[in-house]
Amino acid sequence: MSLLIKNGKIYQNGTLTSKNIFVKDSKITKVTSQELKSNEVIDAKNKIIIPGLIDGHVHFREPGMTHKEDFLTGSMAAAAGGITTILDMPNTNPPTTNMQRLEEKRKLAKKSIVNYGFHFGSTNDNIAEIEKVTNVASVKVYMDYTTGDLKLDDYNALKKIFSSNKTITVHGENENILKALELIRHGRSHVHFCHVSSKEELHYAKGKKIKNPVSVEVCPHHLFLTAKDLNELGNFGEMKPGLKTKDDQKALWEGIHNGKVDTIATDHAPHTKEEKMQMNYPFGVPGCETMLPLLLNSLNQKKITLKKIIQLCCENPAKIFKIKNKGFIKEGFDADLAIVDLSLEREINNDELFTKCKWSPFDGWKLKGWPVATIVNGNVTFSNGKINNVAAKEVLYNERKSS
Ligand code: DOR
Ligand code: ZN
Ligand code: ZN
Repeated sequence: MSLLIKNGKIYQNGTLTSKNIFVKDSKITKVTSQELKSNEVIDAKNKIIIPGLIDGHVHFREPGMTHKEDFLTGSMAAAAGGITTILDMPNTNPPTTNMQRLEEKRKLAKKSIVNYGFHFGSTNDNIAEIEKVTNVASVKVYMDYTTGDLKLDDYNALKKIFSSNKTITVHGENENILKALELIRHGRSHVHFCHVSSKEELHYAKGKKIKNPVSVEVCPHHLFLTAKDLNELGNFGEMKPGLKTKDDQKALWEGIHNGKVDTIATDHAPHTKEEKMQMNYPFGVPGCETMLPLLLNSLNQKKITLKKIIQLCCENPAKIFKIKNKGFIKEGFDADLAIVDLSLEREINNDELFTKCKWSPFDGWKLKGWPVATIVNGNVTFSNGKINNVAAKEVLYNERKSS
């Protein structure tokens, strides 16, 4: 099977250049000005082709909470948002905290139409499982209460996990960021801070240099909403960590520009409308379908560059989690691509979303710049509003350097 995507513009060496992309057996085999013969041809009609986005932080809710989302509906939402790879979080029911549960989740994820990987959960007593586990993106540590029951409070357990020489992904709000940095110094692990939401948290995470690698993720809801929006959104604007001030939001955007922010991920955390309307509502908002349009709209407003979007959403998540052969449009890499139309204007509409929860805190937002096609392993998975259901694959990781 071969595919030619012709007349697209790709970002290369600082500029947009017209190039044809030739795909064979799910890999990019040529990026060229020549027109090669192939079984299938897509005319990109001068639109921009970027590497498919890698969303390092989603909650697709399988097993146990499939009334909110499952790997098929979540991955449909991802494909519609130009995302070609997702990394799923372990706070499912049961949580992904041992090898057997990870194997079960692997089977459930086979219906995903975007590529997938897993973060492995930690508990006060699963260090043996953490040491055994292979082919996962990271070990997730919850240092605060949130959906699921995975908060870790045993200091010795935390110390062992943070010394395990794996990538440790942290849900740590406020001072818990400092606590995590203190713990990580005992070993050589890489610490990745999820959903950094305020000026203070960003300063805690990146204010002081330490010898361990530290990476920072921010989420679209903190970049595009503030606590003021709660007046209108009510519980539908509640997530953990919560929305902050305009000043905090500004600090996150500055972090994007000055390099302190390493990646943007959705923290796609769907809950049903009914659940969100309860007094005792759960925290979280969906985000897979809206992240790239929000960023492309910001590109049109000159708030961010295309280079930054590609770095933060494609290249850096591949580097942070050491995902093999993804994140770049390069010969030999996987044919995971998004074709975007910067002049397309559309409104986000709850009823048109693919996520099972069918709502978004951005409902009604009119945005300019949308993904129009998503290609996963060389298959056109999303095109002009329609999903094509082709199963995707679990990602592989490069080895951590052992020195
Ligand atoms: O708002 C959130 N929702 N924050 C989290 O940390 C978990 C997530 C969820 O799983 O619902
Ligand atoms: Zn979290
Ligand atoms: Zn999360």
